Amino acid sequence: MKIADLEFEPFIDADNIQKRINMLALELNADYAGRTPVFIGVLNGSFMFFADLLKQITLPCETTFTKLASYYGGLSSSRSVREDVELHTNITGRDVIVVEDIVDTGNTLSYFINKIKMHGPASVTVCSLLLKPAALEATIEELKYVGFEIDNEFVVGYGLDYKELGRNVNGIYRLVSS
Ligand code: IMP
Repeated sequence: MKIADLEFEPFIDADNIQKRINMLALELNADYAGRTPVFIGVLNGSFMFFADLLKQITLPCETTFTKLASYYGGLSSSRSVREDVELHTNITGRDVIVVEDIVDTGNTLSYFINKIKMHGPASVTVCSLLLKPAALEATIEELKYVGFEIDNEFVVGYGLDYKELGRNVNGIYRLVSS
């Protein structure tokens, strides 16, 4: 599949994504039983994952979003995080679950977790669909739920983009190495 100037090949199909999401939701439903967490989706990339995950959450919960950017359409992290939409939900004393599309260097997540902690939540954990362990620059203790660990390669689809394209693709594709 061609997206802009690059060629991508199938990597994780829609069925496998859904099966893994069902398992993550089972874990979250059990771990947060009796509590009313606040799920924070990190836009843009998490929109599909957030929707599919939340459909399987049976807990009473709040949902809200923030919008962060660090890739700016390219193939690698810029290392500076831009906050396009601030969080307006009051999370003081709340159990927060951050929902991410992918953790690469971990810079975006570390930045956001530090911001959240300044508001005094009861707890913070992160649920990311994808993780590139080899790219991670520091351990993130809060990252407790991961859909798939993948190699250090560039992926698109299911919310993830290349040059803002490919977010609508139903399944995850990876860059064909030349
Ligand atoms: P980090 O700050 O390096 O962890 O980058 C996290 C953000 O970069 C993610 O939320 C994505 O928006 C973007 N990103 C990282 N890896 C990829 C990829 O393989 N494809 C598309 N976007 C990516």
